[in-house]
Amino acid sequence: MTDLSTTYLGLRLKNPLVASASPLSKRLDRARQLEEAGIAGIVLYSLFEEQIIHESLELDHYLDRGTESFPEALSYLPDGGLYAIRPEKYLNHVTGLKRALKIPVIGSLNGVSKGGWTNYARRIEEAGADALELNMYYIATDPETSSNDIEDTQVDLVAEVKSAINIPLAVKISPFVTSLPNFVKRLVDAGADGIVLFNRFYQPDFDLDELEIVHSLDLSTSSDLRLPLRWISILHGKVNADFALTSGVHTYTDVLKAMMAGAQVAMMASNLLHNGAQAVAPILSDLAAWMQKREYRSIRQMQGSMSQKSVKEPAAFERANYMKVLSAFRELP
Ligand SMILES: Cc1cc2nc3c(=O)[nH]c(=O)nc-3n(C[C@H](O)[C@H](O)[C@H](O)COP(=O)(O)O)c2cc1C
Repeated sequence: MTDLSTTYLGLRLKNPLVASASPLSKRLDRARQLEEAGIAGIVLYSLFEEQIIHESLELDHYLDRGTESFPEALSYLPDGGLYAIRPEKYLNHVTGLKRALKIPVIGSLNGVSKGGWTNYARRIEEAGADALELNMYYIATDPETSSNDIEDTQVDLVAEVKSAINIPLAVKISPFVTSLPNFVKRLVDAGADGIVLFNRFYQPDFDLDELEIVHSLDLSTSSDLRLPLRWISILHGKVNADFALTSGVHTYTDVLKAMMAGAQVAMMASNLLHNGAQAVAPILSDLAAWMQKREYRSIRQMQGSMSQKSVKEPAAFERANYMKVLSAFRELP
């Protein structure tokens, strides 16, 4: 029998395929379908710092305080839509999902600054979440702000959240960091049990007729896998944390690659949003079939087998490979 089980953040999972944060976790029936299809764990869509601050400012507003900052805080929030949710409702949803599902449920907080809003980490734990994912989606636009300033704030935020909870903490990060291994090490030293690589950044486009910004969200393809694949390969065995790969997981071969790089789990959103829960079973059966054919007995056996520490050509992950790839390119005749 092929053993597909893995552990992530101390949680035992029946296989390495986890649904990453997305609107799929908004409805209990959808989440149940994912569980029935074989998904081993589910990360909830995020509760945002802005939503929590907005809620408390609104309260202040009605208590006749903080009226100055109230309109500004309102402007951050989309009117309605999938992510317009009251923090209390989010907590109730965590409890509802926990009751409805047997698989682990991971809550998600999304924010960048330290402050009272991080109390929600403890409240998500109290609501029943098995673990917490902290997403620090941030775009630096001020030339006066240094990478050190940003990293220090994020490391402090991780320490603050970690000290508020007893459940494991994973941190979802950006790939755009000058020294990713150093930053990851700092996050782990601050208390992160797992690192989720990577946040997918949604780039605005221009509408040339209307001269307006176009907000578009393109779903990923398997080619998006390469970036997290490289970095998990580099980090595996060097930093004492679990790794979750997110971005570009669509097929069983993507899951295999994630495991061989050194990830504990492969997370999927775009494929599930596009194809629904029916995408899950074929990936798991093809994964097991491939492993059986190649005589792998367990997922554990392959985890990290293609990491930088394990491969015959470690330089393939580094600058040396850059020149090699460029010189191997053949122009069209
Ligand atoms: C519609 C949509 C909503 C998402 N919402 C969240 C969210 O609330 N919090 C979060 O951390 N990531 C969110 N993500 C990012 C996904 O969890 C995932 O990291 C990203 O889509 C890359 O994985 P994929 O290639 O499988 O789509 C969202 C993605 C999509 C497409």
